[in-house]
Amino acid sequence: MTVSSENASEKPGPQHVAIIMDGNGRWAKKRGKLRVSGHRAGIKSVRSSVSFAIKNQIQSLTLYAFSSENWNRPEQEVHSLMELFVFALDNEVKSLHKHNVRLSVIGDISRFSPRLQERIRRGQVLTANNTGLQLNIAANYGGRWDITHSVKQVIAQVQRGELSAEDVSEQDISRHISLHDQPPIDLVIRTGGEHRISNFLLWQVAYAEFYFTEVLWPDFDENAFSDAVTSFTQRERRFGGTTPDDQSEQAPGGNVA
Ligand code: IPE
Ligand code: IPE
Ligand code: MG
Repeated sequence: MTVSSENASEKPGPQHVAIIMDGNGRWAKKRGKLRVSGHRAGIKSVRSSVSFAIKNQIQSLTLYAFSSENWNRPEQEVHSLMELFVFALDNEVKSLHKHNVRLSVIGDISRFSPRLQERIRRGQVLTANNTGLQLNIAANYGGRWDITHSVKQVIAQVQRGELSAEDVSEQDISRHISLHDQPPIDLVIRTGGEHRISNFLLWQVAYAEFYFTEVLWPDFDENAFSDAVTSFTQRERRFGGTTPDDQSEQAPGGNVA
């Protein structure tokens, strides 16, 4: 389904949406199943999110699949998740390519098995020239890792004499941060009812809008995505400024100050 734009006062939809796909374990538990079956069921929600993003002209969709802290889970669950990533890449990449989707993985993939790294590389190479939806999968990703990684590159520039330490600016850090070549994140959705960022795109969400829903990730469908976008389009984003109405504000006495 597409988001209605009947209301002329509604603002444009988001160009870049990031999703913290949470709640798979609880979804499975509610059904008396193993946590891994929740992760498996979550693949369907990834498919419908991609499909919704394509239909609604969202330029970039960034999905949090595995955080740098998720290694703390029981070995069996981590193993199942890794197997599931390989399985999902093997099964979905062809269809993504057919739909003109460009796939990128962000995060430190060097800790993954050579087999998984090879699947990631192949998926990225196959879809590299596609011009439709940009789909980013955050895997072994952490916002602190991302910032640290960028700062290291800036330090290397300083050491090579390309930049002086006093001149280091926000732009220099931004230039080396994941997703720097894509539109800024407009909307972050977190499913599963928790109200936290869990080390997701810390730098990039400086002015993003947040949408939290109780819906568990395997139940997140196109209607649920549409509700999030509708909420986004009704918000007033000020970026530290004022609203257009405030610009012509009258002083209490009636005169413009
Ligand atoms: C999110 O679901 C998937 C990953 C973090 C890989 P969870 O596995 O965190 O599910 P809950 O939060 O325990 O329900
Ligand atoms: C965040 O979910 C990470 C992903 C969705 C990949 P978690 O379930 O790991 O987050 P916490 O532990 O509840 O903060
Ligand atoms: Mg969770």
